[in-house]
Amino acid sequence: MPDGAEHRTFGKAGLGLVTVGALAATASVVAWSLASPSNDPVGAMVSRVGAGWERLTQWYAGNPVADRPNWSAMQVKLLDAQSDRGPDAMVRYGCGACHVIPGVAGARGTVGPSLAGFADRAYIAGILTNAPGNLQRWLIDPPLFAPDTAMPDMSVTEADAADMAAYLLSLTGAP
Ligand code: HEC
Repeated sequence: MPDGAEHRTFGKAGLGLVTVGALAATASVVAWSLASPSNDPVGAMVSRVGAGWERLTQWYAGNPVADRPNWSAMQVKLLDAQSDRGPDAMVRYGCGACHVIPGVAGARGTVGPSLAGFADRAYIAGILTNAPGNLQRWLIDPPLFAPDTAMPDMSVTEADAADMAAYLLSLTGAP
């Protein structure tokens, strides 16, 4: 036998053993699956995901919008805002010089859009999604989000902005 032949033989035998081992492992998984359908790992996964999906669709179908949490109200609470302080703040900052704002004395300006029914608006100035945190940020520094906007930075404080945002988000429906 030439040098190294012994090693090659051993190498081949080793490879054979590994192959046989892998085949045996595969066969036993298949046998385990066949023995009882509930043993099927793929099937089990599919049915579990399916059940979760079904629960989710049931939740959506069974819960009218009114029953879902009011995220906007929860965020307003997090901001520690009080909507009833909003109108006074808007009078102080002079928002009414540029906006029509229901419930705010003398707010009949036409430079900016009317803020009637603002809670129903999807976007703030067509840029930010209309959520309490975004509205608060917009009121504090409008040019930060819309550099060319005619709405000025009026040095609105965080607390005042939160109160005004809470008030604006309580305005629903047509003017
Ligand atoms: C000098 C005029 C001016 C003043 C003062 C002003 N705004 Fe505005 N505001 C505007 C203009 C103009 C826009 C439209 C901005 C845009 O689309 O870029 C606007 C946009 C807004 C928007 C978004 C409206 C929408 O339809 O998406 C809100 C909310 C708002 N202003 C609230 C306020 C509040 C509250 C104050 C007082 C703290 C105030 N504004 C003061 C001019 C003004």
